[in-house]
Amino acid sequence: MTNVTQMNETDRQYYFMEKASGHVAKLGEELGRRPTCCVTTFGCQMNARDSEKLVGILEKVGYEIIEDENADFVIYNTCTVRDNANQRVYGRLGVLNGYKRKNPHMKIALCGCMMQEPTVIEKIKNSYRFVDLIFGTHNIFKFAELLCSLFENEGMVIDIWKDTDKIVEDLPVERKYSFKSGINIMFGCNNFCSYCIVPYVRGRERSRNPKDIIREIEGLVADGVVEIMLLGQNVNSYGKNLEEPITFAQLLQDVERIKGLERIRFMTSHPKDLSDELIEVMKHSKKICRHLHLPLQSGSTKILTAMNRRYTKEQYLELAEKIRKEIPDMAITTDIIVGFPGETKEDVDETIDVIRRVKYDNAFTFIYSKRTGTPAAAMEQVPEELVKEQFDRVLKTVQETAREQVSRYQGQICDVLVEEINENDSSLVTGRMSNNTLVHFPGDISLVGKLVNVSLDECHGFYYMGHMVQS
Ligand code: SAH
Ligand code: SF4
Ligand code: F3S
Repeated sequence: MTNVTQMNETDRQYYFMEKASGHVAKLGEELGRRPTCCVTTFGCQMNARDSEKLVGILEKVGYEIIEDENADFVIYNTCTVRDNANQRVYGRLGVLNGYKRKNPHMKIALCGCMMQEPTVIEKIKNSYRFVDLIFGTHNIFKFAELLCSLFENEGMVIDIWKDTDKIVEDLPVERKYSFKSGINIMFGCNNFCSYCIVPYVRGRERSRNPKDIIREIEGLVADGVVEIMLLGQNVNSYGKNLEEPITFAQLLQDVERIKGLERIRFMTSHPKDLSDELIEVMKHSKKICRHLHLPLQSGSTKILTAMNRRYTKEQYLELAEKIRKEIPDMAITTDIIVGFPGETKEDVDETIDVIRRVKYDNAFTFIYSKRTGTPAAAMEQVPEELVKEQFDRVLKTVQETAREQVSRYQGQICDVLVEEINENDSSLVTGRMSNNTLVHFPGDISLVGKLVNVSLDECHGFYYMGHMVQS
């Protein structure tokens, strides 16, 4: 028999899944029912994809996946990009403790970006002693192994790695949606924007092998997926450090050739690395969606420099203009931070100027959050009361341009991928246009996962009401 330490990592983890299945089955016998598990995700699409990997393993070892946090096993996959994400986790942990007091079998696990911060681990060890398992972003592939430790050990199990160069392929995944899926194409980030904690908690940039990516997408398409989103903190630098370097634009062309795949999305593009080659590929593609998320952060060159974004206001504007000219139906969305150290009203005027000129289709605006360990944390901070006023000005401008942009398609017919039954009115379904705008229209569950033609009858700010038409 092969020794478990000599196996390749994927096989090792399947070995632990077998073992964990035994533990879960035994727990099921004790409970007289199938043990339940709930995974709650905070943060970005990358965390959402990680949660799908956790759920894949949990299902495989025998848990019943439920939405209710009053479960036998609860996992919080955490985010630490802004402090309010952390506070939400601490708040909800209190509620979980209440459930745990009533269910002696209950186990609580924490993972994700927050766990990569040593101060967080200290705080949990001291004040949240009811937590059973803590692991980080770099060793999530060994979740099956950690599950076994959870069953086999008393007390809190903590396993955090500082970094890794490992990418483990072919572990189970359970998708949230049958018809669309995120795909990691790279992990980590090397950009070190001065406000951002992501490079510290996600480690250095590593690209997956293009063959592994294509194989995964082919598998998904065979399983009914029609839309994929390629995920990375900066997809535009994909492939640079591979043994056989390849550009993101080349990868997109390979993905485009996959038969049966209808739509390709990606997140996120750093403006400093967006190439002409990429614009050209997007322009001629039939599958790449007409949506580009191009985070601005600030419109002031002074602030951009302090942020270490490595582009100026003018370079950003030039890029946006080039995209608008080459691909006029491309929706451009963005992220903006207000209240970065040293930001004045005049700097915010520059940001507003960029918003008006680019005319974003949508924008996420964030109040700057000081992250311990980042260079910006040591800079002189802007008083909170000044930030609020500037934030409101930015938000108002964004809403104006978004309303104008979204309404551009009023009266036209476009293809919509139906995602779900409408949350508020079950006689309607909700779908997305290629440019990511939401559309609601009469329909039923049989349409979910299908691409249909919809007439965009009425624009309501950020979404349309429409009706289906024959193609
Ligand atoms: N890699 C992506 C961003 C990931 S984080 C990119 O560079 O575009 C998502 C967004 O969170 C960022 O674009 C930024 O606008 C915001 N963000 C990151 N750190 C922040 C902080 N310390 N305070 C407020 N917003 C922050
Ligand atoms: Fe953070 Fe900048 Fe990396 Fe985006 S590119 S994850 S903002 S450091
Ligand atoms: Fe948050 Fe981590 Fe994503 S910090 S935004 S979950 S990479």
